[in-house]
Amino acid sequence: MKKPAINKILLAGSTGYIGSNVLRVLLSKGYHVVCIGRNFSFDQSTKKHDNLSVFKTDICKKINYEFLKKQFSSLDGIISCIGTRSGGQCDSWKVEYQANKNLLELGVGLGIKQYILLSAICVQKPKLHFQFAKLAFENELISSGVSYSIVRPTAYFKSLAGQIEKVKSGKPFVLFDNGVNTSCKPISERDLAEFICSCLFNDARKGKVMPIGGPGLAYTPMGQGELIFKILKQSPKFRSVPSSIFKIFGYCLTPLSHFSNRIKNLREFLRIGHYYATESMLVWDESQQAYSSAKTPEYGNDSLEDFYKQVIKFGIDGHELGKHKLFKN
Ligand SMILES: NC(=O)c1ccc[n+]([C@@H]2O[C@H](COP(=O)([O-])OP(=O)(O)OC[C@H]3O[C@@H](n4cnc5c(N)ncnc54)[C@H](OP(=O)(O)O)[C@@H]3O)[C@@H](O)[C@H]2O)c1
Repeated sequence: MKKPAINKILLAGSTGYIGSNVLRVLLSKGYHVVCIGRNFSFDQSTKKHDNLSVFKTDICKKINYEFLKKQFSSLDGIISCIGTRSGGQCDSWKVEYQANKNLLELGVGLGIKQYILLSAICVQKPKLHFQFAKLAFENELISSGVSYSIVRPTAYFKSLAGQIEKVKSGKPFVLFDNGVNTSCKPISERDLAEFICSCLFNDARKGKVMPIGGPGLAYTPMGQGELIFKILKQSPKFRSVPSSIFKIFGYCLTPLSHFSNRIKNLREFLRIGHYYATESMLVWDESQQAYSSAKTPEYGNDSLEDFYKQVIKFGIDGHELGKHKLFKN
């Protein structure tokens, strides 16, 4: 393997699902990592790692980089794995756009050589606030003059595991509409973290916007359900819910959303639900006006089947979905 030319990396989002895996990969490859953010919750061995430093600050506000400049004069690159935890309108713009913009300004001030942004494949067909906010920052990064790699993954394994406990306890797997209208090529957090870190010393990934999925065929929600039932050795039991339910509740909330931010965010959550119930997480083929599994690049070795087996056996610990999960166990 080529020796990395970049040594000291600023990592934002190290407490998140993907960011924590990126941190693990960076440390295992010998990088010096400076984690920046509002809270840090590392395990004991990571906390004591010689190559790890932390810088606690509110990245959504303008970052005073004089302190960082003194401490970390030779910062080489930034990896941003931050993302709104709520998906709400204000939080999306605050985190996906403003915090990344602040980090980029910081990076320019510190003379970084590369900015790696974890984005999402769904920004190719933007309809939601968090997607517009992500896109707005992508465009600023591209025109900033800083060398960049923008990684747009498909769905994460954890996002497809929300119904396992329910199904284990004998309940049906819930599908939207017929369960085969959408599909995705899910990727594990480990493979994605490897992909993100390998952008640091791969010239072919510089100046690129890269959609990326996991290995193998695309899964529909019906296929995901069938796989879970197969592993559990249960006969498949599905319940179909019309995706229009999100729209109907959304319309009902519209008048109230003008008066309350909580309701505005709830309405946005319903719009997010409708988006994921009706759009595939695959590359959109403009010429065919359709999603294309074949055109969605694959990376890694981890399979959804092995992930499901692990979650069924040991539980979802470490793969929590946070506030934005759709299905309650
Ligand atoms: N879920 C999927 O299937 C999927 C697919 C493709 C792309 N993505 C994108 O991938 C990205 C990362 O996803 P993930 O699941 O790893 O996210 P996550 O677990 O929710 O982590 C989000 C990270 O952002 C940080 N953050 C959020 N709000 C912040 C704030 N106001 N100030 C400072 N830090 C803040 C969090 O820090 P704290 O610990 O301090 O909150 C955390 O480190 C997101 O942008 C998401 O849109 C997700």
